[in-house]
Amino acid sequence: MRQAGRYMAEYRAVRERFGFLELCHNSQAAAEVTVTAVERLGVDAAIIFADILLLLEPLDVGLHFAAGDGPTLTRPVRTPDDVRRLRDYDVDDALAYVGASVRAARNGLAGRVPLIGFAGAPFTLASYLIEGGGSRQYVRTKSFMYHQAGAWHDLLALLARLVNRYLRLQVAAGAEALQLFDSWVGCLGADDYRTFVLPHSRAALEGLSALAPVIHFGTDTGGLLPLLREAGGDVIGVDWRTDLDAAWSAIGHDRAVQGNLDPIALFSTPADIRARAATILARAANRPGHIFNLGHGIVPQTPVDNVRALVDAVHELSQR
Ligand code: CP3
Repeated sequence: MRQAGRYMAEYRAVRERFGFLELCHNSQAAAEVTVTAVERLGVDAAIIFADILLLLEPLDVGLHFAAGDGPTLTRPVRTPDDVRRLRDYDVDDALAYVGASVRAARNGLAGRVPLIGFAGAPFTLASYLIEGGGSRQYVRTKSFMYHQAGAWHDLLALLARLVNRYLRLQVAAGAEALQLFDSWVGCLGADDYRTFVLPHSRAALEGLSALAPVIHFGTDTGGLLPLLREAGGDVIGVDWRTDLDAAWSAIGHDRAVQGNLDPIALFSTPADIRARAATILARAANRPGHIFNLGHGIVPQTPVDNVRALVDAVHELSQR
């Protein structure tokens, strides 16, 4: 997650030439950024350089990224009428440029490591549409869910259809695994997840595991892990707030897990980072089906050398 990002000098250099969305739309440059991050870090997989919010651009909600501010939507969805105005557009056409990025990145990687495609999950995408950007408490999102349940389900069903087609497009272009990011779903209790989210995440993932392994990711999901599993995914993402062994037991050992180092731990010393990696690997206990990863994305200012040190430590400690 955020393998390529502002913490990396090579990425900052590219960003001096392109705006963020412009970079995402430039398939050749996006593929280069993807490949450069893999080469710089020595990781075992690439994730295509794109963003979960690209899927919202054709909905004409005024998506933009202001410098240092994160994403903003100038025309957020606030009423059932706003939902009705959103059009079910042709994903293969509107997001063909992401397919081109995937093809170019596969070329650039030349089989060295597999390439992961990704999309946002219906809930997390809806939260951006309704809030108009990031949020701390999701008051608008949850209020919409409580008061406009019909329009809420229509909105999430639309997003699920778009996500499913978008992930299929990426597999058709050459993505070898898929990740569904429900980054902010941990703000919900289990009952609300079951009622308002689970059927839509399931629809978003419908049929995909037959095409490529699917990673289903969220943060703050300690109490939701069995429900994420129920919604779908061959691999369930685990953040650092739960011990990996406890999380895996809750999910069930017949599913794979991904995680779960705190990304902020990368600000510690290389020796401490290595010790933390060893603890996580010990909790995975040599079971098959653990993908070592951070529990969330790398943040700007992270020392690249520490990321490199983590990759080296995991390679060394997990040798069989
Ligand atoms: O890891 C990679 O190299 C792949 C690229 C990737 C990006 N976004 C690029 C990006 C991936 C996998 C994402 C997913 C994404 N985008 C998520 C889900 C994962 C997560 O972190 O929870 C979410 C919620 C978003 C939405 C988004 N995009 C936010 C909140 C922000 C601003 C945050 C920030 O760090 O500024 C973005 C912008 C963004 N997406 C950047 C990158 C490299 C930084 C933009 C820049 O270059 O200025």
